Amino acid sequence: MDFLRVKTLESILASAEKRPLKRQLNAFHLILLGIGAVIGTGIFVLTAVAANKAGPGMLLSFVIAGIVCMLTALIYAEIAAMVPVSGSAYTYSYAVLGEGVAWMVGWALILEYAIAAGAVAVGWSGYMNGILREAGLGLPLTLTAGPADTITLPDGSVASGGFNLLAFLVALFVTWLLVIGTSKSAKFTGVLVVIKIIALTAFIVLAMPAVEMGNFEPMLPNGWGTPLSGVGVLGAAASIFFAYVGFDAVSTAAEETENPQRNIPIGLIGSLFICTVFYLLVAYAAVGAAGAQPGGELSASREPLAFILRQLGYESIGNWVALAAVLALPSVILMMIYGQTRILFNMSRDGLIPARFSEVHPRFHTPHIVTMATGVAVAIFAAIFPVDVLADISNSGTLFAFLVVAIGVMVLRKSQPHHVRHFRTPFLWVLGPLAAAGCLLLFISLGSYTIKLFFAWAVLGLLVYFFYSRHHSLLGKQILGDINAN
Ligand code: ALA
Repeated sequence: MDFLRVKTLESILASAEKRPLKRQLNAFHLILLGIGAVIGTGIFVLTAVAANKAGPGMLLSFVIAGIVCMLTALIYAEIAAMVPVSGSAYTYSYAVLGEGVAWMVGWALILEYAIAAGAVAVGWSGYMNGILREAGLGLPLTLTAGPADTITLPDGSVASGGFNLLAFLVALFVTWLLVIGTSKSAKFTGVLVVIKIIALTAFIVLAMPAVEMGNFEPMLPNGWGTPLSGVGVLGAAASIFFAYVGFDAVSTAAEETENPQRNIPIGLIGSLFICTVFYLLVAYAAVGAAGAQPGGELSASREPLAFILRQLGYESIGNWVALAAVLALPSVILMMIYGQTRILFNMSRDGLIPARFSEVHPRFHTPHIVTMATGVAVAIFAAIFPVDVLADISNSGTLFAFLVVAIGVMVLRKSQPHHVRHFRTPFLWVLGPLAAAGCLLLFISLGSYTIKLFFAWAVLGLLVYFFYSRHHSLLGKQILGDINAN
């Protein structure tokens, strides 16, 4: 059956060998790359969304989402070290669970990366608009949020936005950078990571002494949440999961890494661990210093970390933190669009989407067509939708991909028990099912609107597969060729 045909691990590794990229990244670079892709809109912006959904219980949401991601990273590390190529979960699934599942994962990764890029662009615009407003240069309110989002008018009433101009422009700007060939410059990423770490550290150091235990009461104003409700501790965990996403981008650098079998697991797990420690401290300090009751001031802010610092009287440091977010978030957008283009590029080379998507620009040597198509789509989403909607949709795709990877790694342990594994997930038969269950739990804790959209997207994906990709698959043609040759 077409849906089940697999690419062998050997053939995947052999085709990666044919396009040798310079191996210049070490474990430290990968940790930087991971932190660069992870710390972004999630912690800088969605903290407010989590407060609105869970109140002070969002602290537990951060812990739950962090545990699910940590489990996934431990499992991801096994397959990423075994198949150190750039197509990430899409390629792994092709090798283990067959073309159909790989296609669905690739299709879901479009949600993960492209929609995430849109969410980060909207998050960025929140901080940038704040800075412009503080400087007396604020844009007309209707240009600060999309038509599916809301704005608060000077008289306190709420109206729909018009067009999120800055989110639109930053997405196009990043796309242009990618087309002309700016990508993962390790030095540049390093500088931005340092800026983000300094900003979060400043926040923790200043907000921690202001923590008051009274601000944790009531701890669970919306309870734990029920499936499909999108609120409560679990609803907030499903949203704040976005803050941790991006560590998997480390695996897309596998072909440029020295000794990837050793360094990729260190990069994946190390970067996620560092981010988790920062997030838990930031979340604790934010709740304790500002209170986080749903409907409160924090939950309405579009720049919550800067807002809290300003509330505490650190006006100018709040502005510096906002500036750090404005400087650093575009690199997260860049990583997301970059990851997206590389996955589409791989799918195109496998024949599952048209060959035009893997065309490379003669001068810039970048996959310019797929980059521009992705970038324009990202800019349009960003101009229209609010950050929380985009982040939740992105999470639905990521959770699906993570679930498939967890299952795939367990299947591979059974089907190829003797294949060399440079990194073995410890206690896989405990951690694997736990990771899969965690991904499922977070998935069903998303709101029903997001889940419906996910399934509509999946059905569309299946239609494209059965009417187009199945017939154009190079693997399929090769298998047919082999059969005819026999
Ligand atoms: N984790 C990334 C962010 O929060 C996607 O922006």
